[in-house]
Amino acid sequence: MCGIFGYVGEKKAVPIVIDGLKILEYRGYDSAGIAGVESGKTLFYKDIGKVDSLAKMIARKQLKINTAIAHTRWATHGGVDTKNAHPHFDMKQSVAIVHNGIIENHLKLKAHLERENIEFLSETDSEIIAQLIGHYYNGDLLKALLKSLLKLDGAFAIAGVHQNHPDQIFIAAKGSPLAIGIGDNEYFLSSDVNGFLKHTNKVIFLKDGEAGILHKEGFEIYDCKGKRAVKQIEQIKSNNYEISKLNFEHFTLKEIHDQPESISRLFVSRFEEEFGSVCLKDMGIDESELLETSRILILACGTSWHAGFIGSYLFESLSRTPTQVEISSEFRYKNPIVLKDTLVIAISQSGETADTIAAVHELKAKGAKVIAICNREESTLSRITDHTLLIKAGPEIGVCSTKAFTNQVVLLSLLALHLGRMHHQSKEEAVYFIREIKKLPQLVVEILKQSKHIETLAKKYNHFNNFFYLGRSYMYPASLEAALKLKEISYINAQAYPAGELKHGPIALIDKDCPTIALCSNQHTYTKLLSNLMEVKARNGPIIAFAPRNSAGIESIADDVFWLPEVCDEFASIPISVSLQLFAYYMAKFRGCDIDQPRNLAKSVTVE
Ligand code: F6R
Repeated sequence: MCGIFGYVGEKKAVPIVIDGLKILEYRGYDSAGIAGVESGKTLFYKDIGKVDSLAKMIARKQLKINTAIAHTRWATHGGVDTKNAHPHFDMKQSVAIVHNGIIENHLKLKAHLERENIEFLSETDSEIIAQLIGHYYNGDLLKALLKSLLKLDGAFAIAGVHQNHPDQIFIAAKGSPLAIGIGDNEYFLSSDVNGFLKHTNKVIFLKDGEAGILHKEGFEIYDCKGKRAVKQIEQIKSNNYEISKLNFEHFTLKEIHDQPESISRLFVSRFEEEFGSVCLKDMGIDESELLETSRILILACGTSWHAGFIGSYLFESLSRTPTQVEISSEFRYKNPIVLKDTLVIAISQSGETADTIAAVHELKAKGAKVIAICNREESTLSRITDHTLLIKAGPEIGVCSTKAFTNQVVLLSLLALHLGRMHHQSKEEAVYFIREIKKLPQLVVEILKQSKHIETLAKKYNHFNNFFYLGRSYMYPASLEAALKLKEISYINAQAYPAGELKHGPIALIDKDCPTIALCSNQHTYTKLLSNLMEVKARNGPIIAFAPRNSAGIESIADDVFWLPEVCDEFASIPISVSLQLFAYYMAKFRGCDIDQPRNLAKSVTVE
């Protein structure tokens, strides 16, 4: 987590790095800071809170520096206070650094330096980097940097300045992303190319173990042994997505409303209905590889894992392919068995999730073929996998994932349909599913039109502090996702269960103060779900049902019903998820929460 940004050139550095930091704020927003060198001394400003607080603090200072580094933090080691905010320094304050990642052996290194009478000011793991560089420095900055890097275990992207080298920024990366933007006599560094895309689209990406120096005349990059590296300059395609809330109160609400369009974007030139085929040629899929696929392994975290979970039902049902879905942070520490003919699919909106990237590295080391399902073409995940399928959701600014989730599920559905048709599906079956999936954008429009009804439900129920979300089959992973939405933006405790599991323990929690959200969109298991809801009702638990219009009997059981348009079980997770995103949104709004940037979260989880 955390975002780092830097500028070296001829312009005033402060407005450029503040602007860059604002773009990176999705990576954390606990505190922010900036450092540079003026009159032979390091200068810095830092403050808790968002980048705007820092911007206000330094607006009055009229800083004229042309070189600066900056940081926006998501706290890992050390609480959210000014001493733990970046930049960090060596004891003499001659070096200032900003860091993204975790230095795992920092306590051991710290103990060692403390024995040499070096004093530490913060509780962070990051301070050790500045202290080591300051300790080893004897006039040669690069040498001190490379020597320090050899001591560090863990993941890092680092940028720093030294008071004796006023127009330079030193950089290093291992396991955390760092991109360098190349302008005319000016250079940028950023955790994410979007940070500087408005200035330049010429980019180099640091590889693991590389380090170097940026100055306004150029850059030098070295490998970990100090050998000069030859770097390829890449031209990043600028996307035409506009980043604006339009007239919506929050990005999250705008992104929920984007969904008819973002789903439709995935459908363009996709269906050949008369042949019952889903065409994925433009995605560059290797058809022969797909033909040989007899098993699928899906890796992801959080919401992307929920999408993958739905995907596992889809692959088994539509293409009869045995599918295993794993949480990356667990999977990476197993000793995975990679079988021939297994297609590995790594799903990540950001493409920067550390655990998913590490799990992919592990599988690639074992010779697996990995495809990414991602929203970011230039992400680390896209660069380390064999092939990327883009979900084309457009930028997702709200920290809680909404339109990326639905597009992940839709893309997995398309892949499952394609694979199913290649393997066994008849033309008639395929045509049926194509007709069903094509309905989705319009069904989402119908849900959005009923926002007022969902708002009314949220008004009625927002004072409850505990919720159950129950579903069966496709509705179980959909309930996990819906409960996560409620937790992360409204801070209400929400537990999702496969409805049949309730009686094996959790039912003890049901009473009049614990409402159940019933996800009723799986026709195949509908009557079974009704029995489970009767068990809830018998214990006085309030029930709010989200049910398709053809659901018989639900009205007599539930306290409230939100009616959904009908669609086949396979694709029913899309409309119901949109309705429950809106429910979480209005619940959070009634409780006065910071919806776009909920507490303790970050959009891109770049630490394990
Ligand atoms: C929840 C949410 C997270 C992410 C998770 C993985 O709304 O956004 O749970 O889904 O951190 O992120 P990506 O998809 O970027 O790998």
